[in-house]
Amino acid sequence: MIDSISSILEELEEQSTLEKLKKTKILPEDRMLAITKETGELLNMILRLKNARNMLEVGMSVGYSTLWCAEAIVERSGKIITIEKNPNKIKRARENFQKAGVKDTIIIKEGLAKSILTELNLQKEYKSFFDFVLIDADKENILEYFDLILPMVSIGGVIVTDNMLYPEKYKQDMKKFSDYLRKNSSLRTITSPIGNGEEITIKLK
Ligand SMILES: C[S@@+](CC[C@H](N)C(=O)[O-])C[C@H]1O[C@@H](n2cnc3c(N)ncnc32)[C@H](O)[C@@H]1O
Repeated sequence: MIDSISSILEELEEQSTLEKLKKTKILPEDRMLAITKETGELLNMILRLKNARNMLEVGMSVGYSTLWCAEAIVERSGKIITIEKNPNKIKRARENFQKAGVKDTIIIKEGLAKSILTELNLQKEYKSFFDFVLIDADKENILEYFDLILPMVSIGGVIVTDNMLYPEKYKQDMKKFSDYLRKNSSLRTITSPIGNGEEITIKLK
């Protein structure tokens, strides 16, 4: 692992632990709400197995998951497009990417996921473009996000969705989402118990 990336990841893991223990005085909307370390390892592994170069992330926060992915993408001279609406988090993420030495690998799209995804979806260059997608923003609009994302994913592309099993408050929305995926014959999908429950979906055709 590149030293500059692993030291920022460790720093963020410490912050995340403090947040979970409620030992920081951070506003609720500024909490990292990051994926777990083992989910980071899973994402990094899938990116490497797929030799992925073009990634999309929905819900960047301060960039913990983005950094796990950038560590694999940077070796292939690929790019990550990542979406986030919170300016405080975007500022922290930019600092983290700069310190980690991967700022040129990551393109931050600032704003609401629905409008940014709609904009990307309309651009011809993004048709079947992404070989890997991480969905980790608000859960209420997840079906809409998925429908906008799917045409932008290449055949054989992988979509990972966080929070399939935890926290409990998302269970209903996530069950609806996973039923929706299972009805689509162009997809193969599994719910893995890693981290907070990761849906791993492949676009077959
Ligand atoms: C669970 S956190 C992402 C954590 C990040 N993937 C990580 O593991 O480090 C979800 C993020 O999505 C952002 N978000 C929520 N709804 C959004 C929306 N409609 N558009 C853009 N960003 C949104 C939140 O501000 C928050 O930072």
